[in-house]
Amino acid sequence: MNITIIGYGRMGKEVESIAISRGHGIILRIDTDNIDDFDSELFGKSDVAIEFTTPDTAFENISMCINRSIPVVTGTTGWTERLPIIEDLVESKGGSFIHSSNFSIGVNILFDLNKRLAGIMNHLHDYDVKLEEIHHIMKKDAPSGTAINLAEDIIGECNRFKSWHTDELQGKDRIGIKSVREGQVTGTHRIEWNSDVDTITIEHKAHSRQGFALGAVFAAEFIYKKKGVFTMKDLLGF
Ligand SMILES: NC(=O)c1ccc[n+]([C@@H]2O[C@H](COP(=O)([O-])OP(=O)(O)OC[C@H]3O[C@@H](n4cnc5c(N)ncnc54)[C@H](O)[C@@H]3O)[C@@H](O)[C@H]2O)c1
Repeated sequence: MNITIIGYGRMGKEVESIAISRGHGIILRIDTDNIDDFDSELFGKSDVAIEFTTPDTAFENISMCINRSIPVVTGTTGWTERLPIIEDLVESKGGSFIHSSNFSIGVNILFDLNKRLAGIMNHLHDYDVKLEEIHHIMKKDAPSGTAINLAEDIIGECNRFKSWHTDELQGKDRIGIKSVREGQVTGTHRIEWNSDVDTITIEHKAHSRQGFALGAVFAAEFIYKKKGVFTMKDLLGF
């Protein structure tokens, strides 16, 4: 495939190296210094675009791809309150789009385990839950998109939880998410269920960004020549 990378930062560079190792070509890299290349002929020749930028710019970038009929993969977090607008745009233009707060296969396994455990806990009222996410100090959004997904999945499976929060306020129906920013940590997510007698913990720790980049390239291969809005669940068949 001919791939355009949108956002040539830490993830963009990792995606480039994985895509090349899988036999794809990178025909264009768009970053803040060449935004005009969205209008270029070369961009129109992309089979797929892979977007990892910032919470403030993702929506515009994704819209640009869909309006030019380029299938788009986005891993940018912190923008998804505008996801319904993108879903409508994809439908009206007959476009192709896949998004995930976390493209790592391991984290998607964690998503599945988290849901199953939360379903079991629905009837076990002695257990309370808390979430913790740890990332490098350059990360712009908190809590992470992945932690929000985990919390929302627990709320969906376990009736006694109604919302998530990041403050110290107690409340039995609220899931606390603690965000820690330190050093170069790639990404750690921990879900802890505590009762008076024991603790059950499930945790994912990314060792590098390669897992996210590989998942994003798999996602690009998956949506190429498909139409619609997809998530990693469609790709992995969970
Ligand atoms: N879904 C996942 O698996 C996953 C994994 C890691 C990171 N992320 C998310 O991906 C995003 C990027 O992370 P990163 O570590 O690569 O950040 P980064 O800061 O290293 O890179 C972002 C790049 O986007 C560029 N950029 C900013 N505005 C732009 C615009 N309008 N058009 C094109 N490029 C633009 C910046 O100049 C920079 O080069 C963040 O939201 C992060 O949370 C997601």
